[in-house]
Amino acid sequence: MKILVTGGAGFIGSHLCDRLLGRGHTVVCLDNFNDFYDPQIKRRNIQDAQKSPNYTLATGDILDTAFLDSVFAESFDVVVHLAAYAGVRPSIDNPSLYQKVNLEGTVNLLEQCRRRDIKKFVFASSSSVYGGRTEVPFRESDNIMKPISPYAATKAAGEAICHSYHHLFGIQMHLLRFFTVYGPRQRPEMAIHLFARQLLEGKPVRLFGDGESSRDYTYIDDIIDGVTACTENCHGFEVLNLGGSRTTSLKRLVEMISEQMGIAPVIEWLPNQPGDVPITFADVSRAKAVVGYEPQVPIEEGVRRFCQWKKALQ
Ligand SMILES: NC(=O)c1ccc[n+]([C@@H]2O[C@H](COP(=O)([O-])OP(=O)(O)OC[C@H]3O[C@@H](n4cnc5c(N)ncnc54)[C@H](O)[C@@H]3O)[C@@H](O)[C@H]2O)c1
Repeated sequence: MKILVTGGAGFIGSHLCDRLLGRGHTVVCLDNFNDFYDPQIKRRNIQDAQKSPNYTLATGDILDTAFLDSVFAESFDVVVHLAAYAGVRPSIDNPSLYQKVNLEGTVNLLEQCRRRDIKKFVFASSSSVYGGRTEVPFRESDNIMKPISPYAATKAAGEAICHSYHHLFGIQMHLLRFFTVYGPRQRPEMAIHLFARQLLEGKPVRLFGDGESSRDYTYIDDIIDGVTACTENCHGFEVLNLGGSRTTSLKRLVEMISEQMGIAPVIEWLPNQPGDVPITFADVSRAKAVVGYEPQVPIEEGVRRFCQWKKALQ
């Protein structure tokens, strides 16, 4: 297939491009290399992919409709839309930017799909759409109308507009709710990567809340298994959780990273952050039934692999 991956130089996108190329697909990676974190990291992420004759890089912004016209001058079998401003906390300071890129950018891509008769669209949604609730596990049928950050709200709204395009124009639509993804190339500001860096630099590990907040962490290879299976084998309209389906407390997470790094942590406790949810936990039974998704990498092993990668970079 010929597949457009937006945000293809980022953490998840670059792994996805690598996997799709390995499976014989032709990939166009669209990315604007913004400075949400160091763009050099994104350049590095795509170094291997760029060696493939089946890989093309389209550098530009999903808000630039003339640029999108030129990219969509060729046709695609599937668009996998990962480009977004990610991260809950910065969205509270800059909601308009999040709204613009995450929502208007998504509409721009959907419009291209409608005009060019592209049959399939895969959208990166997020566990954050489930809001600040504590009843777990989270199921796709749960109400998502109470997001607690602008970022989460843009993802819930993105899902809604995707549904409209499915309904109106018959575009097959797969809305994938990722649960905290980690592994090599993870964004530098995310928990795990941030804690590992603080340990390596001999700085205190700064933890928000009492350490009991829990997340369902998903190893990058498992996420890529799920996204690839949906890209290749899913049909119609689907909303699917892609998670590790296990929760780990913040305290336990830091213990695991410290063990792997061989560095005892000095913890600096800080108050809870607005916008942060207390727990995430994915019920992945629907993803298993629809595309055979089954997370393979438990957190202990994933953290070990991540720390190995991080230490090798030093
Ligand atoms: N990493 C996670 O744990 C997680 C969890 C839930 C959802 N998601 C979603 O998955 C997607 C990928 O996340 P990631 O962690 O790989 O983030 P990332 O920041 O590493 O990747 C996003 C990429 O999109 C690009 N981009 C941003 N705005 C753009 C624009 N206007 N035009 C073109 N390119 C643009 C960035 O340069 C970046 O390379 C995002 O949609 C994110 O919201 C991620």
